[in-house]
Amino acid sequence: MSGVVLLPGDGIGVEVVGEARKVLAAIAPGVEVGEFPIGSDSLAATGEALPAATLAACLEAEAVMLGAVGASDYAWSASNPEDGMFKLRKTLDVYANLRPFRDGQIDLLIVRELVGGLYYGERGTRADGTVFDVLEYRPDQVDRVLRRAFELARTRRGRLTSVDKANVLATSRMWRDRATELAAEYPDVELDHLLVDTAAMRLVEDPARFDVIVTENTFGDILSDIAAALAGGLGVAASASLGDSGPGLFEPVHGTAPDIAGEGVANPTAALRSLALLLRFGLEREDEGVRLEAVIDQVAADVRTPDRGGSASTSEFGDAVVAALGGGVAEVADV
Ligand code: NAD
Ligand code: IPM
Ligand code: MN
Repeated sequence: MSGVVLLPGDGIGVEVVGEARKVLAAIAPGVEVGEFPIGSDSLAATGEALPAATLAACLEAEAVMLGAVGASDYAWSASNPEDGMFKLRKTLDVYANLRPFRDGQIDLLIVRELVGGLYYGERGTRADGTVFDVLEYRPDQVDRVLRRAFELARTRRGRLTSVDKANVLATSRMWRDRATELAAEYPDVELDHLLVDTAAMRLVEDPARFDVIVTENTFGDILSDIAAALAGGLGVAASASLGDSGPGLFEPVHGTAPDIAGEGVANPTAALRSLALLLRFGLEREDEGVRLEAVIDQVAADVRTPDRGGSASTSEFGDAVVAALGGGVAEVADV
């Protein structure tokens, strides 16, 4: 299908994508929307974490929004719910995962390499019981995400921090060399390098020093949860995963939150901010996306879910956003 494909997934993914669907209908009523299964529930029902029909719909879509996937029990098997999401990211080749964090003094964008590195290397078990996970990169995989980060830094405050572990890892040495070489093509961007452990410390100590961070898949995964903790929590952290062509994938940074799933109290802000990114970068509806971001900020000042110290429910937040957009919310008869 064309239009927007929604993949609610599991746990609170279903709850927050439900709010995104309401808000999308209010802000862009003409957009075609379809929902498809992915993740743990899909695996249980169909035997596949990413059914072929879901993947086909995503490949034809203008943009894809994912809630979250994953079960609460970590019973490893040949097929995990996370595998479906990994296959989706890889097939869409959305190599640049943009995770913006804004809160008070913090205005940081993490660009996480998303379809290579440690999470995509060979893994297995040898005859003697040794278990391994391989971290490898080709130079072109590194160059394309670095270029994306330089270009994004250019549209912001012109500062790019490349994060690696070049004192130990061969992949990091290559990463650092490529960043240094490419920097010559972006004289308007000031590049610096940090080791990932130091970067974690500096993020906590002085987050305002950062503009754009670019880093390997696993490092970006971890650093972005730290950044989320500094900028309002996982409940508000959004992301956009972009390739060179084809649909982008828009998803909150958080997971399925088994500890609160089903209670209707998840903060939908991360999903709604991801929807704003979808409008801006997926559907090229910059005006609507920017407007939605402003409305979310305005609503968040008054309507607070428990993670933000309030008692509003997931749907109360979504309804408040719809109302602030001017659409009003249809009353549902309580019989
Ligand atoms: P998590 O992000 O699901 O939850 C971490 C903590 O943050 C929990 O206490 C949770 O209640 C809270 N939290 C997260 N989102 C929230 C929201 N919107 N509102 C309020 N509180 C929120 O991480 P986890 O518990 O380590 O992982 C649970 C499952 O989710 C695992 O199976 C994991 O693999 C999966 N996961 C999936 C994705 C994804 O699909 N993109 C991302 C992260 C984790
Ligand atoms: C994220 C998540 C996933 C990832 C997990 C669930 C595999 O933590 O999107 O940040 O590491 O990519
Ligand atoms: Mn993560």
